[in-house]
Amino acid sequence: MNHDLRAELDLVAEASIAALRAPSILNSQPWRWRLNGDQAELWADRSRQLTGLDPDGRLLLLSCGAALNHAVVTLRAAGYSAAVGRRPDPAHPDLVARFGRGECVAADALAEAIERRHTDRRPFGDERPGEAVLEELREVAGRHGVHLQIIRDEQVTAFAAAVAHAGEIERDDARFRTDLRTWTNRAHGDGVTGQSVVATTRRTVAPRDFALKAGLAAGTGTDRGTVYALFVTDGDEPRDWLAAGEALSEVWLTLTARGLAASPISEVVEVPGVRLALRRLLGGVGNPAVAMRIGVPVQETRPPATPRRSPSATLTAG
Ligand SMILES: Cc1cc2nc3c(=O)[nH]c(=O)nc-3n(C[C@H](O)[C@H](O)[C@H](O)COP(=O)(O)O)c2cc1C
Repeated sequence: MNHDLRAELDLVAEASIAALRAPSILNSQPWRWRLNGDQAELWADRSRQLTGLDPDGRLLLLSCGAALNHAVVTLRAAGYSAAVGRRPDPAHPDLVARFGRGECVAADALAEAIERRHTDRRPFGDERPGEAVLEELREVAGRHGVHLQIIRDEQVTAFAAAVAHAGEIERDDARFRTDLRTWTNRAHGDGVTGQSVVATTRRTVAPRDFALKAGLAAGTGTDRGTVYALFVTDGDEPRDWLAAGEALSEVWLTLTARGLAASPISEVVEVPGVRLALRRLLGGVGNPAVAMRIGVPVQETRPPATPRRSPSATLTAG
C-alpha cells in the first residue's frame, strides 16, 4: 500500500478511536464506526437508545454529534479539515455521517482537551466565567448553527424549578427508572458509575439523581459563579439534534482548554412538558436541545475518567 494512503487511513481510524472519549447520555456511547477505505462512517446504534428517557432519539443523536466533533477535532490537530457528509443517505437515516480527510489547515491544540474533559458535577467556585470566554463559547456554538444562550440571573430560579420538576416526573416514571437501572453500575465499559457522581446536597440547580452511592466528594464550591446555558437550535429535527451535539462537544472542549469545567443537564429536555415550558422561558424562540452548567472548578483534581467501550467493540473495517 502506498505510504500516503496508509497515513490517511491511519488518521481517519485514529480520529474514530479518539471519538470514543466523547460524552454521551448516561455514557451509553450509542454509535458504531465503519472504516471504509479512506472514509469512516458513523452509525447511530439504536440498540443503545434509552427507550424511556429518549424515545425520539434526540439525546442519542446529540451523543453521536459529540462523537463526530471529537473525530473532527482530532483530525484538525493533525493539520487537516474533515470532509463530513451529515445524514448523507435518506434510505439509511441511522448513517449519521460520512467522514474523511479534507484540506490541509493550520493544526490547532483543541484535541489536547479530549483527555482532560470530564463531566464535573461538583459545585463550582464563586468566580463567574469571564465575558470574553463566554463570548468565545457562543461563537464556537454559532459555527455549528447553534445558539448558546446564557440563562439570565433573573431566569435562574425558573430554570432550577424546571430541572427539579423534570427530576420529580422522572423519579415517578417506571420507564425512566428502568433506563437508569440499565445504564448505571455496568461492567461493560459504559454507563455511569458512582465514582463520578456527587451526593445531592442543596444546590441552586439540583444535579441529576442517578440513584447511586456518590463516590466523588462535592468539595467546597458554592456554585455562586456558575453560569447556566442552553444550546438552542432553530429547528427541532434530527439534523438539529446532531448539530447541537457537535456544538456541545466543541464548546465543552474549548471551555476545558480555558480551565473551566462543565456538566450537561438534560432532564429538562427529556420530559416533553418541561421542554415546552423551557421554550416559553426563552420567549418561544428556538428549541432547547440540552442545558449545561459552566463554572470555575474549585478543586485541582479532576473527576475520574469514566469507562469506555473498546475500539474493537465499536469499529469495524470494510
Ligand atoms: C446529550 C447528553 C446529555 C447528558 N445529560 C446529563 C445530565 O442530565 N446530567 C448529568 O449529570 N450528566 C449528563 N451527561 C453527561 C454524561 O453522563 C457523561 O458524558 C458520561 O457519563 C461520560 O462521562 P464523561 O463526560 O466524564 O466522559 C450528558 C451527556 C450528554 C452527551
